[in-house]
Amino acid sequence: MNKKIVVANWKMNPSSAEEAVVVARETVIAAGKFSSRVETIICPPFLYLKLLSSKIGSMGLGAQNCSYEQTGALTGEVSPTMIFDIGAKYVILGHSERRNMGETDELVAMKVAAAAKSGLGIILCVGEKERDPDGFYLSALSAQLEGSLAKLPKKYLKKLTVAYEPVWAIGKGALRAAYPSDVLEATIYLKKILWKMYGEKPASAIPILYGGSVDAKNAADFIVSGGADGLLVGRESLRIKTFGNITREVAEASKN
Ligand code: PGA
Repeated sequence: MNKKIVVANWKMNPSSAEEAVVVARETVIAAGKFSSRVETIICPPFLYLKLLSSKIGSMGLGAQNCSYEQTGALTGEVSPTMIFDIGAKYVILGHSERRNMGETDELVAMKVAAAAKSGLGIILCVGEKERDPDGFYLSALSAQLEGSLAKLPKKYLKKLTVAYEPVWAIGKGALRAAYPSDVLEATIYLKKILWKMYGEKPASAIPILYGGSVDAKNAADFIVSGGADGLLVGRESLRIKTFGNITREVAEASKN
């Protein structure tokens, strides 16, 4: 059985290292008991990665961004090699909040290639800004996926996870969470594009997650009816009780 995946994207939270340790420890208690069915990956801010690497037991650890280079004159950047070196195994790339800060598909593609070469697993976010009645959002989605993967050699495909994150469903200002039917349409569509790019067998092994206003009430539906292989959780990943419940729901849903 392939485990489901639940990614905790802490974004730029919490404000102190001390709090980060508390959140990490409580996450291990609340979500760790479902580890036979769910792989939990905690993605804190860069500064807490090293500190948390010894505090999260068998859970995965990931960064929320990385540079497209491994070393060099890039003031303020953090390279994938550095992230791998301190014990993190994953990196979220192409998140809409970073695309909103100016990251293009081309830059994301360079980061994806650099991260894969350094040994990191990639959680690549794609998602349309809005859903138009004519279905143009599907071409936006495929352009983003193809563009972001343009530089990834096929031999690194095993390192890839795709997260479908419609921008209109993310964060405090979200319209609403996607419906499971929206997610099913997107997961099927993304799989189809990946099949076209890489062939059916390698593409079928790439997990597709859903992210955007996930909570304990809607979590199971995205897995059961939405066809997602897991979830990327923002706000609710810092509310430990809810995050534990989300993980429990995913573990239950994985029995179907
Ligand atoms: P949200 O964020 O769960 O707070 O909507 C999801 C994300 O940005 O990855």
